[in-house]
Amino acid sequence: MAAGARFSSPENQSVPLAAPGEFASLCIGPLSVWPPVVLAPMAGVTNLPFRSLCREYGAGLYVSEMITARAWLLGNRRTLLLASSGVDENPRSVQIYGTDPKDVGEMARGLVEQGVHHLDLNFGCPVPKVTRLGGGSAVPLKPRLLARILRATVKSAGAVPVTIKVRKGIDETLTTCFDRRRSCTRARPTGTRFESSSRALRSPCWAMATSGRASTRCA
Ligand SMILES: Cc1cc2nc3c(=O)[nH]c(=O)nc-3n(C[C@H](O)[C@H](O)[C@H](O)COP(=O)(O)O)c2cc1C
Repeated sequence: MAAGARFSSPENQSVPLAAPGEFASLCIGPLSVWPPVVLAPMAGVTNLPFRSLCREYGAGLYVSEMITARAWLLGNRRTLLLASSGVDENPRSVQIYGTDPKDVGEMARGLVEQGVHHLDLNFGCPVPKVTRLGGGSAVPLKPRLLARILRATVKSAGAVPVTIKVRKGIDETLTTCFDRRRSCTRARPTGTRFESSSRALRSPCWAMATSGRASTRCA
């Protein structure tokens, strides 16, 4: 079988394979991800068995589904199971969902103690049952809350990189991404790098907030 044929579908069989050196690793703070592919976190999908299957096709960064901080801290059995990882899962990446900076910070600390390699914060979920409670994409509507959650997480995370996942806004009339970029940058406690990798603001974009040298870059 020709190299790469295994991964060919009718849509991509004319796409040439990446040339050696064509892509660089994805660097998220101290974490280097190769290949530079991130699987989007998906509730009910990106659980441990699914991530293990994906890994068989090449390792990148596989983020867990969103895990509710309060339930995790209360030791909810199902939540703990959803947040669990394989013994050899590296990098281990967990997405935290919460609206209380204290809860989110505490969960971040707990995960770091467990040896997590990457933390992501969910500020993008548009599902009404989440936004009605002020969570997900409703958080950026409250810039001070956004900043407090981010600050608590980055502080607890130490050297572990923290990213945030946002969308352009809660809906077409309430776009928050550009204003909130400023809030996040200001929120850095000790020096936080904040980058957005979104080019077109069609879909949710990722931003990065890791401890380190302060800089801001617009996509
Ligand atoms: C079933 C499902 C569950 C999802 N769950 C999450 C989630 O837990 N956290 C999150 O940040 N995004 C979640 N998303 C959004 C995806 O991560 C992604 O941003 C979205 O599907 C858009 O990506 P696409 O343009 O490649 O389709 C979910 C999407 C789907 C379809």
